Amino acid sequence: MSIEQLAETAQAMVAPGKGIIAIDESTGTIAKRFASVGIENTEENRRAYRELLLTTPKLNEHISGAILYDETIRQSTKDGVPFAKYMADNGMIPGIKVDKGAHPLAGAGCPGELVTEGLDGLRERLQEYYKLGARFAKWRAVINIGESIPSGTCIESNAHALARYAALCQECGLVPMVEPEVIMDGDHDIETCYEVTEATLRSLFDALYQQNVLLEGTILKASMVISGKGCEEQADVEEVAESTVMCLKSTVPAILPGVVFLSGGQGDEQSTAHLNAMNQMGNLPWPLSFSYGRAMQQAALKLWAKDTKANVAKAQQTVYDRAKENGQAALGKWNG
Ligand code: 13P
Repeated sequence: MSIEQLAETAQAMVAPGKGIIAIDESTGTIAKRFASVGIENTEENRRAYRELLLTTPKLNEHISGAILYDETIRQSTKDGVPFAKYMADNGMIPGIKVDKGAHPLAGAGCPGELVTEGLDGLRERLQEYYKLGARFAKWRAVINIGESIPSGTCIESNAHALARYAALCQECGLVPMVEPEVIMDGDHDIETCYEVTEATLRSLFDALYQQNVLLEGTILKASMVISGKGCEEQADVEEVAESTVMCLKSTVPAILPGVVFLSGGQGDEQSTAHLNAMNQMGNLPWPLSFSYGRAMQQAALKLWAKDTKANVAKAQQTVYDRAKENGQAALGKWNG
């Protein structure tokens, strides 16, 4: 795979006014989402729900691609069209989550430190996903903030794994979407989130350099610099936007084709307002867009759960509306 092809895919992922919808919840995570609205976690319900999301009319106006889960990339619409083919036919790039989740970090001095697993056998899995139609892949590292954490060991272990995964992706023709998520849970303030995010991104780009990862063919999926959910003083939209942009500018090379954000437990409107405010600042070295999971889906899931037959079109309308609002925010043109 040439770097030109990887770069072309990466640029298409962050085309102006477009972002990614993350629908790559593992079977365990979707079980929690379904349980919260009283839906049974069966394979057919997961398939039907993902079909609803992916076949939203005109989704491709604001969505460049979707991140699928292993089960989902092997599933099809009710008419028998594989989801990856449906997406490609409709101008959306299929992506795939390839990590095997965050697990306790052995030897960590403090509880709560995690490292993401999934490197063993990854080359073969990536080769198969490419054949199934995937053109980018996602790996999520989890950095928790708490009493005496994160340690440098945790940050570096996760950065190393992200870089090894990214190098394998590029060898197999997939654009790596590297996601070091600094978790919002906790009562830490925004300054602490800034310091941890800065250290994490520095370590990540060092590791990517060490592993010869071509940044022109890489996308960063970042968490925003934001107050911990339990912090008494919540930073406002302006401060989140300014802190996030400053942190990214001081750590992320300008040659990267783009940065997309996760929503991480932010409210729907909050996640859109933050993205919009960042893009309104202007003078950014890279496109800033979205790769939201919950903030794209939660309204649709609630509607669908009320009536899985009658509410499909209504639920799809909310997916479209969320895509449109976030697409506008990616241009700094959301009107609230
Ligand atoms: P959220 O937007 O719900 O945080 O999910 C995005 C994602 O892909 C996390 O890995």
